Amino acid sequence: MSDSYLTITVFRDERELAKSLADRLAADLARQPRQVLGLATGRTPVRLYHELGTLRAKGRADFSHVVTFNLDEFWGVSPRDPGSYRAFMDEHLFRRVEIRPEQINFLRGDAPDADQECARYDAAIASAGGIDIQLLGIGTNGHIGFNEPARELAARTHRVRLKESTRRSNAALFDGDVSRVPAEALSMGMGSILRARHIVLIATGKSKARCVQQLVNGPITTKLPASFLQLHASVEIFLDTAAAAGIAS
Ligand code: GLP
Repeated sequence: MSDSYLTITVFRDERELAKSLADRLAADLARQPRQVLGLATGRTPVRLYHELGTLRAKGRADFSHVVTFNLDEFWGVSPRDPGSYRAFMDEHLFRRVEIRPEQINFLRGDAPDADQECARYDAAIASAGGIDIQLLGIGTNGHIGFNEPARELAARTHRVRLKESTRRSNAALFDGDVSRVPAEALSMGMGSILRARHIVLIATGKSKARCVQQLVNGPITTKLPASFLQLHASVEIFLDTAAAAGIAS
C-alpha cells in the first residue's frame, strides 16, 4: 500500500513483519556492509532484533562493519542500570548480533553535563557520516524517540521532560514501578532524525492505530511529532493489521 508521501506495508502479524524486515536489513547489509544504523527501543522492535540475532547465528547477517546510534536514553541512569535503554539493547540486539562495544554509540544518561553530552552525540553522528537507516517505533501519543508532543520540537539532540503516559509505558523496564521511571531523558531531535537517509517506522497493535492514522493522513503538527516524517523523501512504514486499522482501504 502506498500514498503520495509514505510507503506503507501491512503484514498479517508481528511475526511476519519482523521476519520480512530482518531479511530485508540483512540483504541491505550484504550489499553495503558498512552501514550507520539508528536504532530504537520499546516493545515494538524486539521481535525484529531477535530475528536479526537468529539470522546472525545462521551466518546470514553480518554486523561486523555496522555502526549504531540509539535514539534516546533516560537521564540520570547509568548504562549499567538494568532499566537503561543501553541494557535493553544489550539484551535484545547487541549481544545477539555480536556487535563490538566500539561500534556502539549511545547517549550517556549519567554524563556530567546534559548539553555537552547532546552536543557530543550530534558531533559523533556527523563524524560517522550521518545515519543511513533510522529505525523508529511510535508512542501512542505520536512521539518518536523521546520527541514528545509540544508547542515546539527540538531540532537537535536535547534533554526532554517525559509525559506521564510515556513514563507509564516505560514502567516495565523498572519492574512496573512508574515512580522509578526517570522524569527526563536525552533524545535525538526531529532534525537529527529527519537527516537520516532512509527511515523505517514500525508500529504494531491496536493501541497504535490512531496515531498511525494521524501520521499518514493528518496535518504536519508538533502535536504529533511523527507527522514530520511526511516531510522526508524516503520513509517506509511497516504495520501489522491491527496498527493499520485506521488506514486500511
Ligand atoms: C518509547 C521510546 C520510543 C518508542 C516508543 C514506543 O518511549 N522512547 O523510541 O518508539 O516509546 O514504545 P513501544 O514500542 O513499547 O510501544
